[in-house]
Amino acid sequence: GNAKVIVAGSINMDVVVRAARHPRPGETLLGQSVQFFAGGKGANQAIAAHRLGARATLIARVGDDSFGGSLRAFVSQEGLDTQRVLATGGASGTALITVADSGENTIVVVPGANGALSPVDVEVDIEPGDVLVSQCEIPAQAIEYFFVRGKRPGALTLLNAAPARPLAPALAAAVDILVVNESELATLAGTAVGARDTGTVIAAARSLQSAIGNVVVTLGERGVVACLGPVVKTVPGRRVEAVADTTGAGDGFVGALAARLAAGEPLAQALVFANAAASICVERPGAAASMPTMAEVLAVL
Ligand code: RIB
Ligand code: NA
Repeated sequence: GNAKVIVAGSINMDVVVRAARHPRPGETLLGQSVQFFAGGKGANQAIAAHRLGARATLIARVGDDSFGGSLRAFVSQEGLDTQRVLATGGASGTALITVADSGENTIVVVPGANGALSPVDVEVDIEPGDVLVSQCEIPAQAIEYFFVRGKRPGALTLLNAAPARPLAPALAAAVDILVVNESELATLAGTAVGARDTGTVIAAARSLQSAIGNVVVTLGERGVVACLGPVVKTVPGRRVEAVADTTGAGDGFVGALAARLAAGEPLAQALVFANAAASICVERPGAAASMPTMAEVLAVL
C-alpha cells in the first residue's frame, strides 16, 4: 500500500556515557566515553519506519539551542519528511543516558521543547490506512487530538505508552494498538513488576483490553506477547551475538511495526518482523543510529 506512517513525538539529544556499571545513589564513577546521538522516541520510531521503506513523517519540536540545529540536520539527512519538525524557544529535549558494560541503560529525559508540541502542530493531512504513532514524551492533549482526528478518515493508531503514564479514557478509546514493555504494563495495569511468567503478563494485558483492543507487550530478549482481541500471539526472542546498547530497541520495534502495518501486513505477522528489527538495535550503539534497514531485518528473519 501507499499509506503513510505519521509520527507525532519527541526528538532529543542523547548524551550517552558508557561506564562499567551504573552508579549507586551518591556514588561517583569514572566512565569510559561520552557521545552525542540523535534520539527521542518519536524521532527514533520515525527513522526506523523510514529505513524500513515507509513514507514516514515526523511531527516534533526542537529548541532554539545548538542541539536543535543538529537534531534537525540529522533527521533531514536521513531523508525523513521534516517540514513538521518545528522550532520553539528554549532548550531542545535532552536525555542523559548511562550504558553499562552489560548493554543495559538508564535514562533521564528532560522534555524541553517537546513539551511545546500542541494540537495545532499535529493537524496534518491524514488518509485512510495511514498509521499514526505516538509516545508519552509529548503533551497528552496533542496525542489525544492527533488520534481522535486521525480515526475519522480511518487511520490506524498505535500508542507506545513510554514512559508510562495513566491514559485518559478519551485517549485510550482512540488507540487501536498499545505497545508497552513489562514495567510500563505494570504501571498501566496497576500490577507488580517482576513476575516474569507469561501467564501474569497476559492477565495484566487482558485487564487493559476493556479500553484498548490490541495490547502488545515487549519482553526484551524473551520476545513479545500480544493480546490481539481474543487471540494471544507470542513471538520468541532472537538470540543476539553481543549486546552493545539496548537503547532504542523498543523504538525499533514500534517503528518497524508501523512500517509493516502501513504496507498492509496483518498485525500478527508484523509483530514477528518488528521483533527481528528490535533485536538488531541492541547489537549497535545509539538509538536512531541503531535502526536497521529492510535488508538487515530480512537477513535475520
Ligand atoms: O527509547 C530511547 C529514547 O528514550 C532515547 O533516544 C531518549 O531520547 C529517550 O527518549
Ligand atoms: Na541501540
